[in-house]
Amino acid sequence: MQFPAVRMRRLRNNATIRRMVRETNLSVDDLIYPIFVRPGENIRKEIPSMPGQFQLSADKAVELSKEVYDLGVPAIILFGIPESKDPVGSEAYADDGIVQQALRAIKEEVPNLYLITDVCLCEYTDHGHCGVIENNDVANDPTLELLAKEALSHVEAGADMVAPSDMMDGRIGFIRNALDENGYENTPVMAYAAKYASNFYGPFRDAAESPPQFGDRRSYQMDPPNSLEALREVELDVMEGADIVMVKPALPYLDIIRQVKDRFEMPTAAYNVSGEYAMIKAAEANGWIDGTKVMLETLTSIKRAGADLILTYFAMDAARALQR
Ligand code: PBG
Repeated sequence: MQFPAVRMRRLRNNATIRRMVRETNLSVDDLIYPIFVRPGENIRKEIPSMPGQFQLSADKAVELSKEVYDLGVPAIILFGIPESKDPVGSEAYADDGIVQQALRAIKEEVPNLYLITDVCLCEYTDHGHCGVIENNDVANDPTLELLAKEALSHVEAGADMVAPSDMMDGRIGFIRNALDENGYENTPVMAYAAKYASNFYGPFRDAAESPPQFGDRRSYQMDPPNSLEALREVELDVMEGADIVMVKPALPYLDIIRQVKDRFEMPTAAYNVSGEYAMIKAAEANGWIDGTKVMLETLTSIKRAGADLILTYFAMDAARALQR
């Protein structure tokens, strides 16, 4: 059958029928909100390249977490900016580290908010790389030990889930073992499985004060033109015990999200990263786009591509927009 018997516009005729045949529905349940914590009290410092996002002291992070929870957003992911940095990122796995402190404070006040932590060393090392340095490069295997200590330390402080973002080989299995050996066999791991060496992380590195002090991350994060390699990365993480696999960034890698979802049928997350946020905010501030509508279209496209979960700085804005 074809035109004139077939008229595609019939099912676009009004808002009700469009709602009825809509294939993808963005929900607040899909969203995970990233929060940056730093030492101190009563600190709420706006991140210039990420309008509306803040570095917060633990007390302020508790306040914000309550708002997040009240909006119905189920989860946050915590990033830490430590008091001091050193070559081995000691604050990352210190029992009184900033993320550990924030976890305890938030768990106490907002017990039903699901707490995820980013497990990586780049915010904690003075050289800004995601592991320990040997011969001018990040040494894979010694880094695994530290990542496992960090993950364990987060879980002991109250994290419900850990999310390693370092891109070392073998870290999912290594962290899984460390958690299991310590009685945390029921704590899930969300792997930043296909994480690209992306220029869209620029604003985040201001936010987390974590730019590499020499070189770049291309010896551990993925080369953007590759997609078969992404499938291998995801496969390895699944074999090592990842519960959720993530693709990052989201918008420039929608094709990867779709391939990962189709191939593995795993719970799949996508990280709508800082640069993606900053671009929409900047265009909105210039009056060039309707920021709210572009945000919803963007998040919906990420979900349509196959993401079940979206890590996004828009989580609170989206939750408000979806309520209307
Ligand atoms: C840590 C980490 C980064 C992001 C999340 N975890 C930065 C990086 O790899 O350089 C980026 C998040 C964003 O841009 O929003 N390794």
